[in-house]
Amino acid sequence: MNEKLKGRAALVTGAGRGIGREAALYLAGQGASILVADAGVARDGSGSDLAPAEQVVVEIKEKGGQAAANFNSVTDFKAAEDMINACVDNFGKLDIVVNCAGVLRERMIWNMSEDDWDTVISVHLKGTFNVCRHACVKMKEQRSGRIINFTSDAWRGSVGQTNYASAKGGIVSLTRATAREMGRYGVTVNCIAPIAATRMTMTEEVKAGIKKRLEAGLMSKEQYDGFMNMPGPQFVPPMVAYLASDAAANINGQIFHVEKGRVSIYSEPIEVRTIFKTVENGMFSIEELEDAVPKTLLTGYINPAPAKKE
Ligand SMILES: NC(=O)c1ccc[n+]([C@@H]2O[C@H](COP(=O)([O-])OP(=O)(O)OC[C@H]3O[C@@H](n4cnc5c(N)ncnc54)[C@H](O)[C@@H]3O)[C@@H](O)[C@H]2O)c1
Repeated sequence: MNEKLKGRAALVTGAGRGIGREAALYLAGQGASILVADAGVARDGSGSDLAPAEQVVVEIKEKGGQAAANFNSVTDFKAAEDMINACVDNFGKLDIVVNCAGVLRERMIWNMSEDDWDTVISVHLKGTFNVCRHACVKMKEQRSGRIINFTSDAWRGSVGQTNYASAKGGIVSLTRATAREMGRYGVTVNCIAPIAATRMTMTEEVKAGIKKRLEAGLMSKEQYDGFMNMPGPQFVPPMVAYLASDAAANINGQIFHVEKGRVSIYSEPIEVRTIFKTVENGMFSIEELEDAVPKTLLTGYINPAPAKKE
């Protein structure tokens, strides 16, 4: 087999389940040694369990690969540093970081508790920062490295997920900023927004909610069938491995959507239209804005959530 990552050392967080698990197994299949990091928490972030990470280590070793388990939480700054050190202690270096750890707490904003907000932000946004922060010290020193973060299409704004969407939008900005800081040191930082059937996306509760939306006419049968037949997480890792490989050395700060049979790249966020004021100290009056904004900046605009009469 042509192993694209032979001799590399990778830290994969959230590697005990779902996409992280598949990524760990795939990178190992490409010749990388893997620190399988997973705190084994429930979908909502509660509890802890050593079994998911331990089991993936066993699977990698049974296939002849090298792996070690780590049970630290990515939410803890110091524990994240220990993860990086554990990778170096076990395998002598750190070439690849894949940030897959994730939890969900879905609520409309008016029902979201402070704990729902803090938990999701601390696993996704702070957790990704914690791991990137310590990995970048090592990667800057060695002048090489690949970081692959996980965002979600929800970063564009999704209902019932203000915590998650905000965290994932933060991860997009974190990725873009870190890429700009680390590029000169031979380190690339990119992001994947996946779709895959895992315990995060396909719980009985979620399926029941989707059925209700179909029955209420809020979703087409086609959309319903698409959701229910969501492909598994095994289709995401080849893109992770590609971004981690030598072939992707010049890809930096990019956001890709990845699912079975579809890989897309997001556009650069750019200003698309501008109005200028060249007289009266450059200040627009509210009346001028009332007149000009709809005619210029907002031509063709559609409100994503117009007011409804109850
Ligand atoms: N599945 C999808 O369709 C989908 C869509 C968009 C984004 N994502 C993102 O992809 C990533 C992987 O998602 P998944 O669907 O495989 O989820 P998953 O729930 O199957 O697995 C997540 C893993 O992360 C671990 N984890 C959670 N909190 C942790 C912590 N504090 N420290 C260490 N480990 C922790 C869990 O124990 C679990 O094993 C997540 O970042 C998720 O937000 C997934």
